[in-house]
Amino acid sequence: MDGKFNPGNSFAKVAWTRFLCPGLRLRYTHHPGHKKRVQATPKTRYNTPTINIRMTAMALDSNPRTTHFGFKEVPPDEKAKLVAEVFQSVASKYDLMNDVMSLGMHRLWKRFTIEQAALHEGLRVLDVASGTGDLAKAFAKKVGRTGKVVLTDINEAMLQVGRDRLIDAGIAGNVEYVIADAENLPFAANDFDCITMAFGLRNVTNKEAALQSMFRVLKPGGKILILEFSRPQTTLIRKLYDTYSFNVIPKMGELITKDRASYQYLVESIRMHPDQETLKEMMIAAEFEDVDYFNLCGGVVALHKGYKY
Ligand SMILES: C[S@@+](CC[C@H](N)C(=O)[O-])C[C@H]1O[C@@H](n2cnc3c(N)ncnc32)[C@H](O)[C@@H]1O
Repeated sequence: MDGKFNPGNSFAKVAWTRFLCPGLRLRYTHHPGHKKRVQATPKTRYNTPTINIRMTAMALDSNPRTTHFGFKEVPPDEKAKLVAEVFQSVASKYDLMNDVMSLGMHRLWKRFTIEQAALHEGLRVLDVASGTGDLAKAFAKKVGRTGKVVLTDINEAMLQVGRDRLIDAGIAGNVEYVIADAENLPFAANDFDCITMAFGLRNVTNKEAALQSMFRVLKPGGKILILEFSRPQTTLIRKLYDTYSFNVIPKMGELITKDRASYQYLVESIRMHPDQETLKEMMIAAEFEDVDYFNLCGGVVALHKGYKY
């Protein structure tokens, strides 16, 4: 690893994690076949049972006739088309909007994800819903010439922006671009050492199918990291976040991309996404093991981590 930050260095790891995730209690665990690593458990679990039950019900909805697109109920077949229209529309301004909306915080969340991936030369990595390729760009440098990073996305426009960005950064040769639905990944079983998905899962119609598909293509001993908006852990953060996201983000979208509706979808889709514990349960149901999560910025975002043994 480079000298800037070494995830194997436990002091730096603890300091960095505390900076990003003040609500976490860190403990060291050892698993056979894996390096000693820091695991985190939230000090305070989200403790409003009514909403937890509601979120579980939404995530494990047994009625296949409708699904949610933001706050709207739509037929499952229609959701993919609507999501495609959103990302088609925002692709060219996606990176700018990410910086503006998150006040640059998405860079820290992604940096934390990159450190947790703990990649090294020669590994094969799959970045699902890769979009404009922020994670993939960093991964390509870590895995070097002997490794491979595959960027997949269902949306050609987003992947094209990603490909242009990586080429402009001089990254080629150890990267591949594949248009694919996360629910049905077109790769051989046990193919990748690490799979990541950042801010993609909430857009997928059948999240269980996507988790199963990622499990299938992950190698035994491999790691999955899912970075996604989640449930703020305190009422104060939830209120501040609601006020900001419902009142400010759609207006910013309108101003910068001339597309208010897509950013209205964004804030609504975040509210409809399974909370931390529900997503953890879904990952366990998809057969991932040692699943846990880090709350970032008080649970506004969570990084879920799991393994296939
Ligand atoms: C918010 S962007 C995230 C992009 C990038 N990972 C990042 O963190 O900046 C969500 C991406 O998910 C993609 N997406 C939505 N549904 C998908 C699906 N079913 N399979 C694969 N990608 C999907 C979209 O096209 C979009 O590029």
